[in-house]
Amino acid sequence: MFDSLTYQKRRKALRDKMSNGIILILGNNEAPANYPDNTYKFRQDSSFVYFFGHSHPGYAGIIDIDNGTEYFFGNDVDMDDIIWMGPQPSVQELAAQVGVEKSFPFDKLRDFVGKAIAQKRAIHFLPPYRYDNMLLLEELTGIKASMTKHHASLELIKAVISLRAAKEDCEIAEIDKACNVGYEMHTAAMRLCKPGVSEQYIAGVLDGIASSYGRMVSFATILTQNGQTLHNHDHSHILQEGRMMLTDAGAELMNYYCSDHTRTIPVGGKFTSRQRDVYGIVLACHDKALELARPGVTYKSVHLEVCKVLANGLKELGLMKGNVEDAVAAGAHALFLPHGLGHMMGLDVHDMEDLGQCYVGYDDEVQPSTQFGLASLRMGRRLQKGFVITDEPGCYFIPALIDKWKAEKLHTDFLNFEAIEKYKDFGGIRLEDDILITDNGSRFLGEKHIPITFEEVEAIMNE
Ligand code: GLY
Ligand code: MN
Repeated sequence: MFDSLTYQKRRKALRDKMSNGIILILGNNEAPANYPDNTYKFRQDSSFVYFFGHSHPGYAGIIDIDNGTEYFFGNDVDMDDIIWMGPQPSVQELAAQVGVEKSFPFDKLRDFVGKAIAQKRAIHFLPPYRYDNMLLLEELTGIKASMTKHHASLELIKAVISLRAAKEDCEIAEIDKACNVGYEMHTAAMRLCKPGVSEQYIAGVLDGIASSYGRMVSFATILTQNGQTLHNHDHSHILQEGRMMLTDAGAELMNYYCSDHTRTIPVGGKFTSRQRDVYGIVLACHDKALELARPGVTYKSVHLEVCKVLANGLKELGLMKGNVEDAVAAGAHALFLPHGLGHMMGLDVHDMEDLGQCYVGYDDEVQPSTQFGLASLRMGRRLQKGFVITDEPGCYFIPALIDKWKAEKLHTDFLNFEAIEKYKDFGGIRLEDDILITDNGSRFLGEKHIPITFEEVEAIMNE
């Protein structure tokens, strides 16, 4: 946790952005895995952590916009809890640690919200994504649980995003630490990546490293020699010489700050010349994004410039043809890159995605596209100092997609299907780093940069 003043300042800043009524921020509860007492690892709600600091289940916070009073709701432990869990601080002490004076048992939340509704005051809450909190909101507000997300406050969503988007120095220091854990995870994967080793073994080692330094992985690890499947959570294969292992994995610290890196490396430790060709293009895309990302430019424009680097490289390889600008404008390159260049990162690996991607990554100026590929860009808007975003271009050969586009004769002016056919056994490459937008450019997060050049990768794999 940060010091109490950090949370007080954030809540004051939030209140100053809002018109009137009360702000209700719900924390998360334990979630049973296979019976009530056997729970998944607890994950606090990120906005609750941001404004009220605490990472235990069963709390809620209220900020009265009109008079500035703040309230912390939760239940003190009883003797039974102390016997099983040990002594715990009182709710009043927890509230005081984050500068909240008034604390009440959780049940009082019903009375508080009920009274505010009776007084016709606005109740601002964020879109719930857990079913227990949808049910709680139904109980508190009378709105049907399944409809609660549609009644979330857009004013609150926008205010929260405007605060959480640009990271404070204390947050950047934590993300740097999470990226240091990412370095440990990815360099371990590079050392273990040998023919005959199972994907699951390496994925398990990475999970262990993440939890030994922090809370857990920041999302389910993607580790596969079938990198052409973008979010491949299947770790059932044994690594084979000649394939490439794509590892997209990150760590979440005890205070929830995240990392998210991807590397794609040759099983056996030596790039083939075909792998070098494609890898070199993706690396050039990755470097282009880093070169262009700075305050004032839209990430959509960076994405599109990166797509041109990709299309140009693939043209040189004979897989694309025609005018590169026109090919990218038409979306032909999306056969090889059907996802976006990156997303915001912070307390969530896809930061604030629960609040709505169209508000996090877009605004009145830059609107989401509907074009295949570009539509998957999570972050399109103008960059600002303090934004933490991912730079994650890729190049994939997805046999089913190639077959479909070929059968439909899509973008035949720009795609050389005869040559592309020969790459259907290639797999996919993605290279991802986490970057901070600085005063006039960007920098990698984390103290050490995970090996990425041909020389760096081959050196660590053959140590
Ligand atoms: N690293 C997983 C993702 O960005 O979706
Ligand atoms: Mn990512």
